[in-house]
Amino acid sequence: MYLFKKVSDLQHYLKLAGSGVQNLGFVPTMGALHEGHLSLIRLSKTINSHTVCSIFVNPTQFNEKGDLALYPRTPGKDIELLEKVGCEVLFLPEVEEVYPPEVQTKLEFDFKGLDKVMEGTFRPGHFNGVAQVVKRLLDIVQPDRLYMGQKDFQQFTIIEQMIRQLHLPVELVMGETLREADGLALSSRNLRLSPEHRQLAPKIYETLKEVLEWRKKYTPVEVQKNAMQALDIPGFKPEYFEIVNRNNLLPIQGWENLDQAVVCTAVWAGNVRLIDNLLLNQ
Ligand code: PAJ
Repeated sequence: MYLFKKVSDLQHYLKLAGSGVQNLGFVPTMGALHEGHLSLIRLSKTINSHTVCSIFVNPTQFNEKGDLALYPRTPGKDIELLEKVGCEVLFLPEVEEVYPPEVQTKLEFDFKGLDKVMEGTFRPGHFNGVAQVVKRLLDIVQPDRLYMGQKDFQQFTIIEQMIRQLHLPVELVMGETLREADGLALSSRNLRLSPEHRQLAPKIYETLKEVLEWRKKYTPVEVQKNAMQALDIPGFKPEYFEIVNRNNLLPIQGWENLDQAVVCTAVWAGNVRLIDNLLLNQ
């Protein structure tokens, strides 16, 4: 695997590799890699001749400086894992490389309300920061395909919207959520769970799946209420549980268009904030 820290070195390599690169897949990450991230690399490798993974803990998407400082950083282990799955290129830039003062990297987006609900309510400005860094990384890497996880459903929807709005020449591909055997969605934050909270955490996915049964008896509003109650247990603090249309992320009123519905939730397990979601087209 090639490792580049400088934009110019990465671009020089991609230019030289040029004719050998039939298709370029790109997997942006913030590191502390786990099987969920690796599944995106594997997915990319199924059809692209080359895959670039980036590891960059993006300061502009963190609301709290403390959270940014606490974000796990495990570059040595990440490199090992990437080698193991056969990733061709790792881009590992410093902040000044992604946001050099002489390059206009600030962007203001209008996501037509997609960024104002769910995660957006609790993390103002977060999605602008995510879109800013993904746009910048796409400009640098110029891939044919961009791979992102269903795990962060709202993030995926917003990047989809950005690509459409800016007419970016890249195909966005969704990778399914990888889970522990007990259902907990893999996340870098799981490492910070206490043993007690780790034991409780599968309850989040269990409650998401309950919707498939509850929907036979209850309205979406009633299901939402049931779920918030079910998650309101000692050790947990549910922030939201929303059943929304996957295109506009607004609450659905009935169960008619099940293939367009997605259930999204965020729950504090102790001092760790976990998110998960379930598509209802099953
Ligand atoms: P990060 O949290 O590192 O996630 C990188 C990618 O891995 C995202 O597309 C995310 O949806 C995906 N992912 C995370 N957990 C997953 C799981 N359990 N199964 C499958 N895929 C999973 O998301 C970000 O970084 C950042 O916001 C980023 C897009 C890199 C911009 O900074």
